[in-house]
Amino acid sequence: MPYYRRLGEVPDERHVAFTAASGEQCFEEFIGEEGFSGTGSLLYHVGVPSSLVDSQPWDLGDQRLRANDPLKPRHLRLPELFPDGVTGRDAVRSRVTALANSDVRLAYVVADAESPLYCNAIGDEIVYLEAGSARVDTIFGSLDVRQGDNVVIPRATIHRWIPTSGELRAYVVEAAGHVRPPAKYLTRYGQFLEGSPLNERDMRGPESILLADRADRERDTDVYVKHRGDGGVSGSVVTYDHHPFDVVGWDGCLYPYAFNYRNFSPVTGKVIQPPSTYQILEGDNFVVCNFVPRKLEYHPQAITVPYYHSNVDSDEVMFYYAGETAARKGTGIGNASITLHPAGYTHGPTRRAYLDSVGATESREMAFMVDTFRPLQVAEAALACDQHDYAWTWSGRHGAKEDRA
Ligand SMILES: [Fe+2]
Repeated sequence: MPYYRRLGEVPDERHVAFTAASGEQCFEEFIGEEGFSGTGSLLYHVGVPSSLVDSQPWDLGDQRLRANDPLKPRHLRLPELFPDGVTGRDAVRSRVTALANSDVRLAYVVADAESPLYCNAIGDEIVYLEAGSARVDTIFGSLDVRQGDNVVIPRATIHRWIPTSGELRAYVVEAAGHVRPPAKYLTRYGQFLEGSPLNERDMRGPESILLADRADRERDTDVYVKHRGDGGVSGSVVTYDHHPFDVVGWDGCLYPYAFNYRNFSPVTGKVIQPPSTYQILEGDNFVVCNFVPRKLEYHPQAITVPYYHSNVDSDEVMFYYAGETAARKGTGIGNASITLHPAGYTHGPTRRAYLDSVGATESREMAFMVDTFRPLQVAEAALACDQHDYAWTWSGRHGAKEDRA
């Protein structure tokens, strides 16, 4: 986030010796993007932030990917990967990757247990809460998050997820770089423009620092790290000689933040607006949109579901979190389904939905979309929930055509 924030104890000058009010000597850490040339923050630790005592492998499970070849649209019912009645799953280690390329990994998780301390050293994460609520404890402080929140965790931020009301269901975008609000919404100095569907008041950051108990602070503490590895993603559990929640203060423009889809104010019009109207964030070689409830178009003959389109430059992934959409009614899409509509394939509503959409006045649909500019591969671990005949639902031959997936 390009907005300056300051919490806790911070010295008046940067890069000088600093003793906290407790009498403890502090150690300054810079967390910055693009080396020392991008957005960053300065944190003041009472422990030495680099003092490791161990590093062990973290087995991430099956991370194999396969090309979507032969080309076909896909429907994955992600909840089928998380059978009911299983407890002890957490929002970090229990994730299952569904689709991925070198720019982004898309995963889903159902969790009821507290996660270990974790950081993603590959890139920023956007965690979209389909259901439940949680507290996200981070080295910058805590965020209370709830259903409908987009939670943005910058790369290398040590944090943990603690569900606070029952089961947490989350869709996770793991970027290989940084994510940011779209440039089209911002002034050249980074303030949200008038007319932007989001603004600074929608963004929630940590409100106070988070210090572990003094006894905990002096214990050896494990942190699960997702990092670049041979041919893709790898995992390690590193152990520090202290608890990383030892920051007495920080300031800067890099920190975790959250905003809710309910705060998003889409622009609607006389005729349907393109999906880019619903963009909320962008990363390197991908964009993210929130489709939210809204009044529909007011031209008397307006087609109010998306017209057929061929995204010649992108693969499109929709995550549905409010039941069937009008455009794809009758295709079996449900809560936490994702669809992949790859480049080279023309997609849109069913014939009936297209024709029936004239005259509709309101949409209650909700979906989270990622468009990637490089092809996505399908994770082997997610194929168990692949709905093989989805590709034939437009023609009506699903259920009859032999499965050749
Ligand atoms: Fe589309």
